[in-house]
Amino acid sequence: MSKIETLENKIAESKLGGGEKRIESQHKKGKLTARERIHFLMDKGSFEEIGAFVTHRSTNFGLDKTKFLGDGVVTGYGTVNGRLTYVFSQDFTVMGGSLAEAHAEKICRIMDLAIENGAPVIGLNDSGGARIQEGVVSLGGYADIFYRNTLSSGVIPQISGIMGPCAGGAVYSPALTDFILMVENTSYMFVTGPNVVKTVTNEEVTAEELGGATTHSTKSGVTHFACANEIEAITNIKKLLSYIPQNCEEKPPVLPYDMNVDEKREILNTIVPENPNQPYDIKEVIDGIIDTDSFFEVHKDYAENIVVGFARLAGRSIGIVANQPSMLAGVLDVEASKKGGRFVRFCDSFNIPLLVLEDVPGFLPGTDQEWNAIITNGAKLLYAFSEATVPRITVITRKAYGGAYDVMNSKHIGADMNYAWPTAEIAVMGAKGAAEIIFKNEIKSADNPEEKWKEKEAEYSELFANPYNAASRGYVDEVIKPEDTRKKLIRAFKMLEKKAVTLPKKKHGNIPL
Ligand code: HXC
Repeated sequence: MSKIETLENKIAESKLGGGEKRIESQHKKGKLTARERIHFLMDKGSFEEIGAFVTHRSTNFGLDKTKFLGDGVVTGYGTVNGRLTYVFSQDFTVMGGSLAEAHAEKICRIMDLAIENGAPVIGLNDSGGARIQEGVVSLGGYADIFYRNTLSSGVIPQISGIMGPCAGGAVYSPALTDFILMVENTSYMFVTGPNVVKTVTNEEVTAEELGGATTHSTKSGVTHFACANEIEAITNIKKLLSYIPQNCEEKPPVLPYDMNVDEKREILNTIVPENPNQPYDIKEVIDGIIDTDSFFEVHKDYAENIVVGFARLAGRSIGIVANQPSMLAGVLDVEASKKGGRFVRFCDSFNIPLLVLEDVPGFLPGTDQEWNAIITNGAKLLYAFSEATVPRITVITRKAYGGAYDVMNSKHIGADMNYAWPTAEIAVMGAKGAAEIIFKNEIKSADNPEEKWKEKEAEYSELFANPYNAASRGYVDEVIKPEDTRKKLIRAFKMLEKKAVTLPKKKHGNIPL
């Protein structure tokens, strides 16, 4: 056999991973192989593999007789939408994609290259966790990855696709990354599986209920996206990358845009109902403002009382944080605060300007919220906005009440521009409650207390249920017709394009975690 043939044989062997039988079994489970996933992720012909011939060095439990080229993970680089991207993709056909010394070294190499060269890392996880036969070196391998995840955080984007099992400490690498995408019915994440749960807590639960895509996209918020299948997950990863820059020193990609088109959007005049207590869908407002069909929602099914996601405005990426009046009246609670805070910090890390659409009746009262630390969690959102140095604009569409007014990107905590629609109500609380408190004695002693209450409510309303009081103090820069919102935002974000703010010198802040 010639030397070239030897090489060709080795390459062919490495491409087969754990062999044809196991590939077939992977397909039977409705899953793609590690290489097929990379094929769909990367631009055609752009993938360059690194470390295809790496094998483990263990001799424990007869492992020296079970060696597979690549050691259960395909690693390398290529382009996605023409931009440099690093990837590691675990190969379940090789010892269940389990991670040990050599496997971890391959992932670390990719992460080191990514951080040195300022490009995103995509991790496609499909693994039975720490390779049991290799013992503590498997744990060390995980920790080496966690450390790099943390060093890379805020420097390069890190995205985790969960394409199969992800159990034990393995979940902590994805948890340290910026976004997690899971596939419905074929992927799950948990610290301990159903058997351990049964032993320790006596709970009977299936893997899907405990840590499937639906659970983590609705209940825990661990995953940002639940995808119907692997192709959808990979398509979403590509889409996500299209809104974000390569690293923290760069700006997101810009799409061509004709500034001469008519930016009036009359539909926006018709969305907020006459009755201030009637709900409406803030996503209609978002769609009315942004470039057509450009909204890419994040955490869609979790804490739906706040909406977050990426969009384009005149071809440029923005991050949107919006209260959702059609869900719990758009109130801020523990989950909404965490969801909003995390998204704001991502955008700020990667130079993505923020647009806030505000219609919020306040923080949700009650023992459930207090005992679950709405104070600490609400402070996360407040902190995230306050420290963000990207261009920040707020549009108050209706209610801006109480502490939530301050928190939702008010001018006082550093927003650059605040607009209000004529329907805006900016006050300490709603008129009815306010009247009840400040005119309590007058109402009680009146001949007709109901009438008196209504009268006082109207008085308070007249004074505060409008944007003009706040505008007279400059808390609102301009009261605008809804139809002009898009035009105003395009101009304001353009004006803020070169914004440069320096924060006080510090090691790092102490966000209330
Ligand atoms: C070594 C493993 C393995 C592991 C699976 N395999 N997990 N080998 N170490 N952790 C091997 C199996 O022996 C099998 O080999 C092949 O992978 C496929 O596994 P199956 O069990 O046949 O597949 P399936 O039925 O789909 O079940 C997948 C699974 C199950 C649910 C992931 O394999 C499983 O429960 N594995 C153990 C999970 C676990 O407890 N991991 C340790 C977590 S603790 P053959 O040769 O038969 O094909 C952890 C600590 C990390 O990760 C801490 C970091 C801080």
